Amino acid sequence: MDKKLEKAFNEQIKNELYSAYLYLAMAAYCESKNLAGFAHWLKVQAKEEQSHAMKLFDFLIDRGVRVVLQAIAQPPLDFSSAADVFEKTLEHEKKVTALIDKLYMLSRELKDNPAAIFLQWFVSEQVEEEKNAAQILDTIKVIKPDSAALIMLDRELAKREG
Ligand code: FEO
Repeated sequence: MDKKLEKAFNEQIKNELYSAYLYLAMAAYCESKNLAGFAHWLKVQAKEEQSHAMKLFDFLIDRGVRVVLQAIAQPPLDFSSAADVFEKTLEHEKKVTALIDKLYMLSRELKDNPAAIFLQWFVSEQVEEEKNAAQILDTIKVIKPDSAALIMLDRELAKREG
């Protein structure tokens, strides 16, 4: 694999693991606010991000590329509300979409067909990721903080399986 692409793939492993870290930080905040359903949803999301990192990890191994793990930044500690959490989730997913698109375009520029085909799954996955965050954010926006409706939404999010 081209060295530039190897570096970019390794970078994306870190980005996915940072996503897991960010969602865990959000889960910890939600737990502290007695929003156990929100926290559950975010913990499932964190696991999903770890699985994204592992898909990239395993792909590099399959290609005979050395995986080079990088330092993961500390995520934010505090948030102002459940709405803030999902605003930041959507914002973050948009950033990840841009990173995936860049990685996909690079693999195409370098004519690395296996990498480009592999990354198509991630391109589609990002559509889902943004949609999920946007849907929850839209619901929160019409709900008053500390209302019964927020508790109902919390119960709904507690049902997420994976
Ligand atoms: Fe791995 Fe949420 O994108």
